[in-house]
Amino acid sequence: MGFGNGPKVQTPLPGPKARKVIERHHTYMATTTNDPIYAPLVIESGEGVWFRDVDGNIFLDFSTGIGVLNVGIRNPEVQRAVEEQLKKIWHAAGTDFYNEKQVELAEKLNEITPGDFEKKTFLSNSGTESVEAALKISKWSTQRKLFVGFIGAFHGRTFGSLSITSSKPTQRLRMFPTMPGVYHAPYPNPYRNPWHIDGYENPEELTNRVIEYIDEYLFHHYVPPEEVASFIFEPIQGEGGYVVPPTNFFRELKKLADEYDIKLIADEVQMGMGRTGKMFGVEHFGIAPDIICLGKALGGGLPIGATVFRREMDFGVPGVHSNTFGGNMVACAAALATIKVLQDGLVENAAKLESLFKERLQEMYDRYEIIGDFRGLGLAWGVEFVKDRKTKEYASSERNQILLESLKRGLVLLGCGKSTIRLIPALCITEEQAKIGLDIFEEAIKSVVH
Ligand SMILES: Cc1ncc(COP(=O)(O)O)c(C=O)c1O
Repeated sequence: MGFGNGPKVQTPLPGPKARKVIERHHTYMATTTNDPIYAPLVIESGEGVWFRDVDGNIFLDFSTGIGVLNVGIRNPEVQRAVEEQLKKIWHAAGTDFYNEKQVELAEKLNEITPGDFEKKTFLSNSGTESVEAALKISKWSTQRKLFVGFIGAFHGRTFGSLSITSSKPTQRLRMFPTMPGVYHAPYPNPYRNPWHIDGYENPEELTNRVIEYIDEYLFHHYVPPEEVASFIFEPIQGEGGYVVPPTNFFRELKKLADEYDIKLIADEVQMGMGRTGKMFGVEHFGIAPDIICLGKALGGGLPIGATVFRREMDFGVPGVHSNTFGGNMVACAAALATIKVLQDGLVENAAKLESLFKERLQEMYDRYEIIGDFRGLGLAWGVEFVKDRKTKEYASSERNQILLESLKRGLVLLGCGKSTIRLIPALCITEEQAKIGLDIFEEAIKSVVH
């Protein structure tokens, strides 16, 4: 197929073939989040870190299909595992009959997830389903009805997960009432928080304010803590803007949780599977959650979700929760191969490349006033654009323009939050390829600010 070793955009965007597909898409497909103006990309094929569009243009991918393609596009080992499974059987109704592939995956997840205790796994097909299962396991096992989530979080768009999601108002527009019993606290966002604390300078103060808010405002006024089943959080907020909380935050949250016997649900759908330079995001923060939600990158590009939880929290009664496709055998085979590939060097590569991103983004921050903040771990980086560093006014249209200018130069990026761009390449990216992408990103910023 041949993708060369550099992006090549030879047509205007969208090109002639792409333009037709985009028109047909908007005629026949339901409206979701596609943006024909700022993301007019029609993907045809790909390999590793490269996409080819329908007009033959070649792009470097810094978006990994929204954090899915951590092992790269069509990773050869994952492809081999999928092909092997395709020759045997694809679907085996794993919630009614038994199959070993699912068990193997559950055993593997038991072993690699944080927490020195025995666990069980519920398999599904997506991130939102893994969150739904977490909410149900939590209610079932604690017999409590309430949840506390965090402002800025994204957990999915089905009704349970949507009730906790609080990243953008559009996500909930005309959808009320959502699930009752859900309360939100500010997330310890070091750059933007209700107390205007500089959370980089004073991380502990920021942590204390959030914990105090939950304990002294929520729990002492209107949310009885003895009825709270779980805290649910993203270790690093993804859709909300790639926001990294202070290192001690989750340890303090756990202390509060223990005080009231509340469980912790870590939604690792976007930050899990090596993205942050460790297999799971929470590993940076020294806690082991009671429930972990996985999706996106787990299947190496095939759809699969998993909810991994303390064994004693299991339903135990058949039929309380189940599904049809969860743990599809091809997806399970892909997930097992994905985990192996990640363990065999890709997580390490993500950790190794962290300093390259940190240094280059620091240089860009020093050069361009439009960058208000940048933050990240491993290969999970967010760059937030502002009109003014003092007022922190969101530079949303400039952010969109930078996305488009990057795309025109052959770099695929995605926005998140109100004015942030996330840089999330595959974990198999080389230093040389990463530099190509970072150079294009800088050129795109330059073209918009000058
Ligand atoms: C942290 C997190 N949780 C849950 C979801 C929902 O996953 P899905 O879109 O597969 O339902 C997402 C999707 O972006 C996510 O980032």
